[in-house]
Amino acid sequence: MDPSKRRPASHDVEDIASAKERGWRDLAPIDDAYRAGDITATEWHAAVRGVIEQAYLNGDNPRAQSGHSGDESRWREARSLLVDLLPPHGGTFLDIGCANGHLMESLTDWAAEAGITIEPYGVEISPALADLARTRCPQWAHRIWTANAMGWKPPHRFDAVRTGVDYVPADLRGAYVAHLLDHVVAPGGRLIIGVYNEERDQRTTADLLRSCGYAPAGTTTRDHRHPEIQYKGLWLANA
Ligand SMILES: C[S@@+](CC[C@H](N)C(=O)[O-])C[C@H]1O[C@@H](n2cnc3c(N)ncnc32)[C@H](O)[C@@H]1O
Repeated sequence: MDPSKRRPASHDVEDIASAKERGWRDLAPIDDAYRAGDITATEWHAAVRGVIEQAYLNGDNPRAQSGHSGDESRWREARSLLVDLLPPHGGTFLDIGCANGHLMESLTDWAAEAGITIEPYGVEISPALADLARTRCPQWAHRIWTANAMGWKPPHRFDAVRTGVDYVPADLRGAYVAHLLDHVVAPGGRLIIGVYNEERDQRTTADLLRSCGYAPAGTTTRDHRHPEIQYKGLWLANA
């Protein structure tokens, strides 16, 4: 049967949620507390960091230190589609939430294989992870900042900027995208959203962006090992 036609049975729902977002169980109560008004946005960021920082630092390989549980080939499957979203002429690339810097390294190599030269930069909300990135990638240490990207104004803007919309609380996602387009992405540059894991027949992230007034200029997908999920990414053009 065509997997895209199969409706998820109720016992699949947890499985799909788990495939979509690693750590979803731990993060849901933080979202609930924010939605209920029990914590502020600053406390939301601190609580999310509290969940992921130590888990990443405990990782025994570069992928785990970036929040990915698979091997090298799975890492490539899950992230290399970002190459499709880069400007064809390359240029400066900022990884928001660079963790230990492994995506900066990998994407530079994968882009080069496609004939695209990027100059990678990173920003990371966790000081410990940013330090790890600077130690692992000493050649780029001066290009890795510690900051919350929401509100951060870098010393210069970038041709391509990658982020997840889930790096801020749900009600601040439109404001986050506006901030990045106004202060972080260069005029004429690209804001890349992804990689996010989503049901193949859903457009939740694209629809959220459209509801905030941002129409994707391009999209890409790859199959996930879970038949109902795809790895997805999209980009927004900065005027
Ligand atoms: C899943 S990892 C991404 C690692 C790598 N960039 C990738 O795409 O595979 C998400 C990272 O984003 C960082 N992060 C989350 N919210 C952030 C924010 N508002 N500003 C900067 N970094 C943030 C987290 O600390 C974490 O290291």
